[in-house]
Amino acid sequence: MKKMRLDRFLSNAGIGSRKEVKALIKGQRVLVDNSIINDPGYIIEPTKAEVMVDNQPVTYKKFHYLMLNKPAGVISATRDNLHQTVVDLLPSQYKHLDLFPVGRLDRDTEGLLIMTNDGQLAHRILSPKNKVPKIYYAVIEGKVTFEDVDVFQKGIKLNENFTTLPAQLTILKSCHRSEVHVTVFEGKFHQVKRMFEAVGKKVVYLKRICMGNLYLDEKLAPGQIRELAKHELDLLNMAAHTSDQ
Ligand code: URA
Repeated sequence: MKKMRLDRFLSNAGIGSRKEVKALIKGQRVLVDNSIINDPGYIIEPTKAEVMVDNQPVTYKKFHYLMLNKPAGVISATRDNLHQTVVDLLPSQYKHLDLFPVGRLDRDTEGLLIMTNDGQLAHRILSPKNKVPKIYYAVIEGKVTFEDVDVFQKGIKLNENFTTLPAQLTILKSCHRSEVHVTVFEGKFHQVKRMFEAVGKKVVYLKRICMGNLYLDEKLAPGQIRELAKHELDLLNMAAHTSDQ
């Protein structure tokens, strides 16, 4: 692996911005192979050097993978002139890492959103040919019926050029306001809302709870973010696996 500057190593590892890690180094809080290093430009081999900050070991990370419970009212984009974006929600140690959301949720949709700087994984998750399942919990105005389940199961024509793959609709509660789980295999604009419109019903609340077998951590309150565990990243990689890679 290519050698790199100590400040870059620490910054890529998510310790802080370049400016913040330079301050740590100058403050004599960084050890490399058991020696205090004062020079931010000190060159190390990322996979070989033993780096400690405040006596805590730091391992090299090229890519970061975060799980966000997206709150309503926030845009799934890196930048917006009007509204708060999911990037604005990142804790400061992640702000400089060029993380972006994997796919989009509508502004009023809540729930599971992966943020990463791994463009290849994002591409594989979003590629239609990988048919990565997404499960949503939805509250629907009106009574959802078993006929609706059948219509979803056959696939729904959203326009002249596009019919969804068979989608699984599970009725949790059927009343004047219904509650459902719906599993879809694409990520078209307003897809779930348009599928319910096609059966004459309106989505009044939408939350993504699963993507490719990775479930939203229910302990994450809306707006909270945490790193994915190794087994969670494996779940995503498995779901986004194609035979031609
Ligand atoms: N389907 C929708 O209609 N909106 C979302 O945010 C996600 C899926």
